[in-house]
Amino acid sequence: MQTQLFIGGEWRDGADGARIEVTDPASGDVIAEVAAGTPADATEACEASHEAQRDWAEVAPRDRSEVLRRCWATMMEHQDDLAELIVREHGKPLADARGEIAYSAEFFRWNAEETVRIRGTVATAPSGANRMIIHHPPVGVVLMVTPWNFPAAMLARKLAPALGAGNGVVVKPSRETPLTALRLIELLTDAGVPPGLVNVVPTLRSGDWFAAAADHPAVRMISFTGSTEIGRELLRRSADRVLKTVMELGGNAPFIVFDDADLDAAVEGAMVAKMRHSAETCTAANRFLVEAGVADAFGAKLTEAMRAVHVGNGFEEGVTCGPLINRQAVEDVDGLVKAAVGAGAEVAIGGSVLDRPGYFYEPTVLGNVSADSPIAHAEIFGPVAPIIPFTDVDEMIDMANDTEMGLTGYVYTTDLAKGLAVSERVQAGMIGLNRGAVSDPAAPFGGMKQSGLGREGSTEGIYEFCETQYIATNW
Ligand code: SIN
Repeated sequence: MQTQLFIGGEWRDGADGARIEVTDPASGDVIAEVAAGTPADATEACEASHEAQRDWAEVAPRDRSEVLRRCWATMMEHQDDLAELIVREHGKPLADARGEIAYSAEFFRWNAEETVRIRGTVATAPSGANRMIIHHPPVGVVLMVTPWNFPAAMLARKLAPALGAGNGVVVKPSRETPLTALRLIELLTDAGVPPGLVNVVPTLRSGDWFAAAADHPAVRMISFTGSTEIGRELLRRSADRVLKTVMELGGNAPFIVFDDADLDAAVEGAMVAKMRHSAETCTAANRFLVEAGVADAFGAKLTEAMRAVHVGNGFEEGVTCGPLINRQAVEDVDGLVKAAVGAGAEVAIGGSVLDRPGYFYEPTVLGNVSADSPIAHAEIFGPVAPIIPFTDVDEMIDMANDTEMGLTGYVYTTDLAKGLAVSERVQAGMIGLNRGAVSDPAAPFGGMKQSGLGREGSTEGIYEFCETQYIATNW
């Protein structure tokens, strides 16, 4: 596969010849080297995208839609080889990686359908004197900064609507997982995405790269998925040119279990919410707030479910949890667990770094965690489930909302009215009510508070990549 930068429809090395080493987190071995872009490469990519975007914006929506539809079909034809690439550079189990490709491809099929339905309005002015026409042209060139936890899906979720709306794109994939983005753009080009429209420029110099790209006059928007810390920094830098922003940032999801919940269903949902994609999702259940009467029973069942998790290399048959992304991630998770235990949490299972090559952490359940413990306030991004028992619903809601994050929440109860009422009180952009997964290309993905700005997916997602223009008429 290609391992160079993709700029203006051509594969080439970065201006200073630097390379990025890509590591297999299951072994710690370097498995590939990829060209690293400089700020000058980023500027060139913006220029190329600008040129191509002018023509693309004139392409009929139906024809843009057909290209997206072919992207969906091409990705599904290559589901297996794309999934293998994800396992190599990210480490997640092969079944999760195949699921990620189907999920990613679906953003193209969904947005192929949305592309021909970008609607404006014609309204009569309140005075009755004239009509007002409102329509939605593309933004221009969009910078996409994508994370390592879903190397395909987080790019597809941005790319498909951006292209459908008529934009050009410059992508900076994570330096941890650049291979999937490079292979994806190779395939999407074969599917009909015009040369130059989408440019992929991995880099080792993220700050300088972003400063140069965001300074290009054709760039009008930044779409970012990653940590709140980096998101804040990109927002600050975007302010200089008043760029439009969509930010999908960190989470700290409460997973609330009432004593009337179906505990088996709650544990099944908990395992999905906590462990999907090797427990490295922003939507992951981060704190299990469990009504005191069922806290022990829930903890015991969750512990058994964690015991059944098969940790290992994502290619091995039966593995359900792969490694974490790098050594730092393992150290961060271990630090949070040690601090929680130091503050009185009980280890029901796990609690240690696995002694083997690669970056593995034991599936862990912590009982009786204090709501003040750092683990209740940090995004864990690892296979650790801290259980915090509660007795009073109002106090529990305060605890659930005692965070600057507001991406996801989960509520388990057999009382639907109570479930809905509690869901509405949780300050999060997405709630799983008796469900452990919320993600769907047809649903608006995004957070409240410091978890983000804007939404991806659903009918809203494509409008994020559009301007709104109002034309006053004498008609
Ligand atoms: C994320 O963790 O950033 C995305 C999770 C998802 O789309 O399910």
